[in-house]
Amino acid sequence: MSLPLVGQAIAFCRLSAGVRELGGTRQVLTRFRSGEAEKESPASGRDRRNRLSHQRKVVQNLCGGADGLQDYLDFSRHCYNGASTTMLDESIQELLSRSLGRIASANSLEELEAVRVDALGRKAGLTQFSKEMGKLAPEERKHIGQLLNSARQQIEEALESKKQYFAEPDLRARLGAEWVDLTLPAPGPRRGHLHPITRIQRELEDLFVSMGFAVLDGPEVETEYYNFDALNIPAEHPARDMQDTFWLDGGNVLRTHTSPVQVRGMERLGPPLRMIAPGRAFRNESVDASHEHTFYQLEGMMVDREVSVAHLLFFMKTLLTAIFKREVTVRLRPGYFPFVEPAFELDIQCLICGGPGCPVCKQSGWVELLPCGLVNPNVLRMSGIDPEEWNGFAFGLGLTRLAMMRYGIDDIRLLQGGDLRFLEQF
Ligand code: PHE
Repeated sequence: MSLPLVGQAIAFCRLSAGVRELGGTRQVLTRFRSGEAEKESPASGRDRRNRLSHQRKVVQNLCGGADGLQDYLDFSRHCYNGASTTMLDESIQELLSRSLGRIASANSLEELEAVRVDALGRKAGLTQFSKEMGKLAPEERKHIGQLLNSARQQIEEALESKKQYFAEPDLRARLGAEWVDLTLPAPGPRRGHLHPITRIQRELEDLFVSMGFAVLDGPEVETEYYNFDALNIPAEHPARDMQDTFWLDGGNVLRTHTSPVQVRGMERLGPPLRMIAPGRAFRNESVDASHEHTFYQLEGMMVDREVSVAHLLFFMKTLLTAIFKREVTVRLRPGYFPFVEPAFELDIQCLICGGPGCPVCKQSGWVELLPCGLVNPNVLRMSGIDPEEWNGFAFGLGLTRLAMMRYGIDDIRLLQGGDLRFLEQF
């Protein structure tokens, strides 16, 4: 029910009560006619007159005729006005003191906002009262207007100061927390570290340099000759297939292994020769936990007089002990690589699962780590070295695999994934 209707209903009840109290309608009308209530201003507003006129029928009997009725209407207007003003006055005071009370006991900005909406909102409180004002006589309007303004002002001020009261500890806390000591030295750039593969590579370089080996580098984009032909890899070998190798325009390849650096080393340095060649190699693999299209190898080669498998094994064992700093279980299997003869696969027992099988060792318990063998005489010959005078061994260590074994990494993709959460563990 809207406020004007409530006001109207209450005013009417008060009027009736007043009439009864004064001893009946006739006496009231007489007093009214004699001018006792004349100080009050006349009613205003067409709607109020309309509202009053519907009572015409009801009071006609009481007032006894048209004269009496006119008196009653005048009186009724007067009473209605007075009652309405008093009521508005009381309601405003009541709203004011209730709002101030709520503001004082509010514990949050939300509560304050609720008070603001109830008291000053467009559809409530003081705004509704000020709509009522239009129906009042000018003097009343002035009085109620002042009352409304002062109530509004008091509520607004109370809201504002309570808001500030809430904001103060917040502000103090923020100033405390965001305090900056400009005299402290800056933390400086974060220190990084070498990638685990680079670390192993450098350790091995040091080891082999200490044994008289040169560290060589070769191109990652290779010619077909260095990657395949000079290594005695026949034209029909599956490694030449598009499925295994990234072929580039013009017949070059992304080197599929570091072995072409053997050839470059032999050509450039000649025998006797001890060299290693660490670096990246690429294969057209579908990537999974143990296969990457890009991986690291460390090629090794020794060419000298009367080099044997015993020499080969000595260097391989020295290498593995240096890397794992403990005995690892190894096995030697016959292998096949066109550029070594005899060829071996040196496997180590899987250090991730210790034997029973896991994705890294393809459930076999062994990891192929060190393919090796004695250099095929054809390869020496193609590089201009006389196989009657010289021979040698070569090996191709999987650096990526080695890093996985040493650090217990069970997914090859982590190594080149660039995820700092992974890399920062080393
Ligand atoms: N190049 C061979 C490969 O990548 C490994 C290897 C190198 C084998 C040297 C024997 C000797 O598979």
